[in-house]
Amino acid sequence: MMVQYVSTGIKAGRNTLGSTGRGRCLSTGSSKIGEPLKVEDAETVQAPHPPQEKLLVLGGSGFVGSHICKEALDRGLSVTSLSRSGKPSIQEPWANNVHWHQGDLLSGSSWKEALNGVTSIVSCVGGFGSNSYMYKINGTANITAIRAAAEKGIKRFVYLSAADLGVVNYFLQGYYDGKRAAETELLVRYPYGHAILRPGFIYGNRRVGSMEFPLGVFGSPLEMVLQHAKPLSQVPLVGPLLTPPINVTAVAKVAVRAAIDPVFPPGIVDVHGLMRYSHQNVL
Ligand SMILES: NC(=O)c1ccc[n+]([C@@H]2O[C@H](COP(=O)([O-])OP(=O)(O)OC[C@H]3O[C@@H](n4cnc5c(N)ncnc54)[C@H](OP(=O)(O)O)[C@@H]3O)[C@@H](O)[C@H]2O)c1
Repeated sequence: MMVQYVSTGIKAGRNTLGSTGRGRCLSTGSSKIGEPLKVEDAETVQAPHPPQEKLLVLGGSGFVGSHICKEALDRGLSVTSLSRSGKPSIQEPWANNVHWHQGDLLSGSSWKEALNGVTSIVSCVGGFGSNSYMYKINGTANITAIRAAAEKGIKRFVYLSAADLGVVNYFLQGYYDGKRAAETELLVRYPYGHAILRPGFIYGNRRVGSMEFPLGVFGSPLEMVLQHAKPLSQVPLVGPLLTPPINVTAVAKVAVRAAIDPVFPPGIVDVHGLMRYSHQNVL
């Protein structure tokens, strides 16, 4: 549940909101029926400004990370990103409102500056390559970030993991071993302040250099069909291949909510959970 803060309020003199057996009533201090309602005195009071949520998106320059940055800005958060390349070449106005840090989670400790003042983190750091590289980027890099964040006292940590894809896991062993190692670290360091998102294929407009690839062309129809085939995903080996794809904006919406909503339940959110949460309207 989100709470909206108001920095200025009106305090009304003797007027009070009361409750009768038949419902709520407004007491004005006047006992005469027919007398106009009058507010005797009102003064402006200053309520303290709420501490602003500051979200750090690890890998905010990437495909999913950039959508998360945008979603978080739309929700009024202060947003910082950390990646090896720093500011990406996104030519959209929102990108100027992100604080882009340049740093490598696998090298040195200067990247830890990006943790200053941060209240929650979403990590989109991950990738493909040789088995040992995939373990490092999906596992070690995230484990390093989770430990540093916990030591810094950052409240919540959301990790972009990946759905189990059955036989595919065998060919991408470093990728899945790394993902599961990072998840385990998160459960240990953030037993109540974590969320593990496990989407299958994520579609949307993916930017590669100056080109954009509309992955939704086949991702969207597949999602329509496969979201109703949940029972088939239980079939051993091939079932997980029928995991429906999901739109990147849906993933971004759930990631931001999981990062800032104190009552978002800790645990693993699979693709069906992601779809369900993304359809909920929360302030
Ligand atoms: N896309 C999908 O279909 C999909 C599906 C399921 C799960 N996921 C998971 O979702 C996450 C995001 O995926 P994506 O498609 O958005 O990937 P992406 O576009 O490759 O983004 C990865 C981000 O991580 C940063 N990064 C990589 N190594 C880093 C390091 N050592 N230190 C700091 N930053 C580093 C990259 O920037 P630099 O290279 O500049 O450092 C980039 O910003 C990944 O964990 C992926 O496994 C993706």
